[in-house]
Amino acid sequence: MVKIKKAVFPVAGLGSRFLPATKAQPKEMLPIVDKPLIQYAVEEAVAAGITEMIFITGRNKRAIEDHFDKAYELETELEAAGKKQLLEIVQNVIPKHISCIYIRQSAPLGLGHAVLCARPVVGEEPFAVMLADDFMDAGDGVRPVLAQMTEVYLREQCSVLAVQDVPRAQTGQYGIVSASAYQPGLELVSGIVEKPAPGLAPSTLAVVGRYVLSNRIFNYLEHLGSGAGGEIQLTDGIAALMQAERVLAYRYAGQRYDCGSKLGYLKTMTAIGLKHPETGAAYREFLRQVHIELGTA
Ligand code: G1P
Repeated sequence: MVKIKKAVFPVAGLGSRFLPATKAQPKEMLPIVDKPLIQYAVEEAVAAGITEMIFITGRNKRAIEDHFDKAYELETELEAAGKKQLLEIVQNVIPKHISCIYIRQSAPLGLGHAVLCARPVVGEEPFAVMLADDFMDAGDGVRPVLAQMTEVYLREQCSVLAVQDVPRAQTGQYGIVSASAYQPGLELVSGIVEKPAPGLAPSTLAVVGRYVLSNRIFNYLEHLGSGAGGEIQLTDGIAALMQAERVLAYRYAGQRYDCGSKLGYLKTMTAIGLKHPETGAAYREFLRQVHIELGTA
């Protein structure tokens, strides 16, 4: 049985919704409390047993490579200053058995194109795709979302897309699937369309940024023309794959935060800030105060 060992992180996007914060740094490096978004996604992949992280990068993304690399100067200084705890944090950003591979996507041709760039490294295996700006919080004591999905993959041996219901007014922001009941929490995908207008959307079941994909997807991505927004869309590759193989939509256990939007980013910061061992209690108190003030305003 083939296990999922590789995850692809398309991180070449411009992050224009967060300008000027993303003028000189990648949006994937925006922190949620004290860890960048990309680190949360990588940790989720590690928890799913992934050992090869494949980043599809672009201009201005060097900070991601540096983040997962050794930081000699910083380590030397922390060591000299006797800051053991911080040194440990810096040295353990990623477990030692994980390898990171970086591929440049030289033109922003779309998510489908970004995934296709990973082909030479993915080889013949099935693989995961993770969009770091979809922040997934499975909740305490629950298996992280990608691990839930690789479990489904192992059982069903087919592609699995994470999905959630969205308000009809928002279908234009997502890949939307048509699907029929399959098993509890799982649906059989019979159609998928990228960012349909609310009036044209076949349903309100939206794909969010976690995919486990059959290797065959590459054959379709390779021949795709541009789709919605003039880009080569992963969604169109999945639509073609679905004609040849089973594709399942999985209603994951957990909460997704859209860190591609400012409001979603603020919500994530609040949710994680409340749970954080260092900030949690004081932040709760602060929010209580804000709540009182808002109530009396
Ligand atoms: C991408 C995909 C879309 C998916 C979404 C999830 O869109 O193209 O199908 O629903 O991620 O976040 P983007 O948000 O990059 O425009």
